[in-house]
Amino acid sequence: METFPVIDMERLNGGERGETMDLIKDACENWGFFELVNHGISHDLMDTVEKLTKNHYRKCMEKRFKEMVESRGLDAAQSEINDMDWESTFFLRHLPVSNISEIPDLDEDYRKAMKEFVVDLEKLAEQLLDLLCENLGLEKGYLKNAFYGSKGPTFGTKVSNYPPCPKPELIKGLRAHTDAGGIILLFQDDKVSGLQLLKDGKWVDVPPMRHSIVINIGDQLEVITNGKYKSVLHRVIAQPDGNRMSIASFYNPGSNAVIYPAPTMVEKEAEKSQVYPKYVFEDYMKLYAGVKFLAKEPRFEAMKAVESTVNLASIATV
Ligand SMILES: [Fe+2]
Repeated sequence: METFPVIDMERLNGGERGETMDLIKDACENWGFFELVNHGISHDLMDTVEKLTKNHYRKCMEKRFKEMVESRGLDAAQSEINDMDWESTFFLRHLPVSNISEIPDLDEDYRKAMKEFVVDLEKLAEQLLDLLCENLGLEKGYLKNAFYGSKGPTFGTKVSNYPPCPKPELIKGLRAHTDAGGIILLFQDDKVSGLQLLKDGKWVDVPPMRHSIVINIGDQLEVITNGKYKSVLHRVIAQPDGNRMSIASFYNPGSNAVIYPAPTMVEKEAEKSQVYPKYVFEDYMKLYAGVKFLAKEPRFEAMKAVESTVNLASIATV
């Protein structure tokens, strides 16, 4: 059986670079997910972020979560729940403008550690985009530029906890979806598992690994690569024991970035021609907000319909 791809980034610096680039390429083409070790982010910093995230959950989020469970009767459910997730979350925005100082309930040391962590993640995201460019035959900086718009990329973090669940067979930690954005960097709990991706029709575990960063590809990279790389369905299975921490950071296009298949990807994938739409990223996000847990293909079709309306309108006025 194929094993989940783990990339040792230190091997990019020596004689094993070619082999490592091939592993990344294979992971992007066949998994949509991979796990990075030796990524250069301090393990001490990761330990601090983990400890403070778990403290913050206990201090500020746990009571609220338990009240929500009780008020909605989730722990007494008798049949499957399909319109909710068993998760406790909050969001931070870093780019284009940080809102971290405005988030209530964060201790100063937590704010400071998160700020430091996301600066490292942003650099790692940009490094990865260039590695992907290299594998795709795109010029260095192509993906970063494609995401830039007029104000630079959008970068944010969803901090989640998946508390122990008495009925994991009836409610998901997080229902199956693909991620809307560009590239996603996840710092996940190294003890409590639960994240799964769909591969060849089967759900496969993303193995917890201490100090690793899990990477996955969002819908925007599928569009820009004209389907060479695909965003992959994933979900979180709630666990009966243990509280799962998940810190997912999304390196996404700027809201006014125009997203479309890279011309060279269309040429290379000539037999398929351009099968993906061209649109403004914020329009995609408006659509996604209402249909996150539905299949992605109708989203692409809906954006194509918008594109043709726009084109028709501009022709009509000529
Ligand atoms: Fe996701």
